[in-house]
Amino acid sequence: MKLHVWFSPLGLGLADVQGRTIFVIDVLRATTVMCAALHHGARALIPVASTEEALRLAQTIGSADVLLAGEKNCLRIPGFALGNSPLEMTEQTVKGKTIVVTTTNGTKALLSTQGAAAVYVASAANLTLAGERAREALAENRDVVILCAGRETAFSLDDAYCAGRLAVAALGDHKPRKGLNDAALASLDLVRRYGDDWTRPLSYSRAGRELIRLGFRDDVLDAGRLDAYPVLPQFHERRVTVAPQSQPQAAQAQPS
Ligand code: MLT
Repeated sequence: MKLHVWFSPLGLGLADVQGRTIFVIDVLRATTVMCAALHHGARALIPVASTEEALRLAQTIGSADVLLAGEKNCLRIPGFALGNSPLEMTEQTVKGKTIVVTTTNGTKALLSTQGAAAVYVASAANLTLAGERAREALAENRDVVILCAGRETAFSLDDAYCAGRLAVAALGDHKPRKGLNDAALASLDLVRRYGDDWTRPLSYSRAGRELIRLGFRDDVLDAGRLDAYPVLPQFHERRVTVAPQSQPQAAQAQPS
């Protein structure tokens, strides 16, 4: 069994993702936004690498049900209907919509997972569901990778702490000596340091401080609300949609 954490997608190669079950984390704010949007009824999100690509794709789809969303360096993109705030993803705004989204780090991390067996989106907002799925994957002897979006390809405290929380949920009572990489061990240490408190790692992080400075304190608080948007988004064939429910083993067994 392997549970690896990556603190950023930098250096992540095909061999690191191929066949693995991946959980992508950008708690401030892209993966929290995706959970909020799907929880409130968005049909799908399509992550793309750039503003230009987002505009092009929205034009190609050419439907009134498409919304453009995203940010560059924490600020919304001129002309886009939505920024990158979970608080903007209200039911009234997103229900039934397809959202083409581009952000500085989060969408890049998602797009770097090509070749994986399955890719899920994780945050504090869906930690319990993501943890259950990661636990199932480990129980089925699948290798799990928790991929932090990080900040400009560097370590970010907010994502690393969230990775630790997800690793704790995935491992349960299991205390493996082998199979964890050093980043996984370090993320577990962060959980020992901060305990259950999301506020400190989120607001002490550089992204958190920057967002608070720019007037997004409520986003930082919202991103730290455990299981606030209980939905498990899956990235598959370029789209992020609600993952199909996993079938519990017992339910599959035929009655004799
Ligand atoms: C990102 O993808 O870089 C973040 O979601 C940035 C942000 O919160 O604005």
